Amino acid sequence: MEGRRGRAARSGDGADGPRGVTFAGRANKRHMTNIAACSAAEAPTLPPPVLAVLGHPVAHSLSPVMHEAGFAATGRPGRYIALDVPSARLPAAVAGMVALGFAGCNLTVSLKEIGCALATRRSAEAARTGSANTLVFRAGEIYADTTDGRGLLRSLREETAWDPRGRRVLLLGAGGAARAIAAALLGAGAGAVLVTNRTPARAERLAADLGGGIGTVAWGGAPLDAALRMTDLVVNCTTLGMHGQGCPLRPEALDLLPRDAVVCDIVYVPEQTPLLAAARAQGRVGVGGLGMLAWQAALAWEVWFGEEGPADVLLAAARRSLPRI
Ligand SMILES: NC(=O)c1ccc[n+]([C@@H]2O[C@H](COP(=O)([O-])OP(=O)(O)OC[C@H]3O[C@@H](n4cnc5c(N)ncnc54)[C@H](OP(=O)(O)O)[C@@H]3O)[C@@H](O)[C@H]2O)c1
Repeated sequence: MEGRRGRAARSGDGADGPRGVTFAGRANKRHMTNIAACSAAEAPTLPPPVLAVLGHPVAHSLSPVMHEAGFAATGRPGRYIALDVPSARLPAAVAGMVALGFAGCNLTVSLKEIGCALATRRSAEAARTGSANTLVFRAGEIYADTTDGRGLLRSLREETAWDPRGRRVLLLGAGGAARAIAAALLGAGAGAVLVTNRTPARAERLAADLGGGIGTVAWGGAPLDAALRMTDLVVNCTTLGMHGQGCPLRPEALDLLPRDAVVCDIVYVPEQTPLLAAARAQGRVGVGGLGMLAWQAALAWEVWFGEEGPADVLLAAARRSLPRI
């Protein structure tokens, strides 16, 4: 597998696609050649499913290396590329992928909501959150699902045996990831989900959109301190901590958590964020975002292929490709 990855890394740094759509990430030229080959006379009758991650930006995405490693390890035929698609071009890009015979795609930064709106059918979770990270193109339909929230729950279960039923959760942040996680936690039986956000109106919108079971609390001060004292799981869903910059909670605030509370950070670059480092320094259980990343990918296989992807393989591939900070 290393040899395969090495060849892919050497094969090109990106190639221009149709206007507004840039082929990006590793192994671009190899993949483009491969897609072209699917329509060539010598192409197999049934070409391998071709999938992609769409985003803007997308060059940082670890999805191509994860899924390609999964295909190599399991022998499942498949190709996976990264496509840089600005949100205004997503409808045209999806129509083009359907016409070309792509099996589906993942959606990342800035495309999850518009991608969900484009779908002709949605899972209950996608419909509830208005966000999709996985699309399937089949039988004239565009089906949307979101595996982000389930991915986080699965990584918590696998890494800590944490059971959400009846637990009190505090989410830091109210963006797309927080929405998916809040919905998944409630769906899995969490007792209470509180959301705090730098911009309070966004937390209130999240609570209103997702319906009952979600409360909001101020971003700091005595109300947040009181919430921390009653929290079983705190999840950082902000961008604070990316590239080691910033921390959503002061160490004194972490002190307020019950002794057995779990601290989770969905930011995964670096693998140990400042929040996780502070929590672990206090002897707490800390769960990083790389497991969620691998599990949301493994669960996307279930949506595309009807069976989970090899999460351990996907995780190892992501870890090997993490940017060094
Ligand atoms: N591990 C995984 O699989 C996974 C999956 C999805 C996302 N993520 C990570 O999760 C993070 C959030 O993603 P997203 O898609 O939810 O992003 P998003 O929709 O853009 O939301 C960003 C959130 O971060 C907050 N924020 C940004 N800068 C801040 C600051 N300086 N101080 C306080 N809060 C700040 C925003 O608050 P305001 O509303 O006040 O701006 C908002 O709540 C990203 O780092 C992403 O990489 C990880």
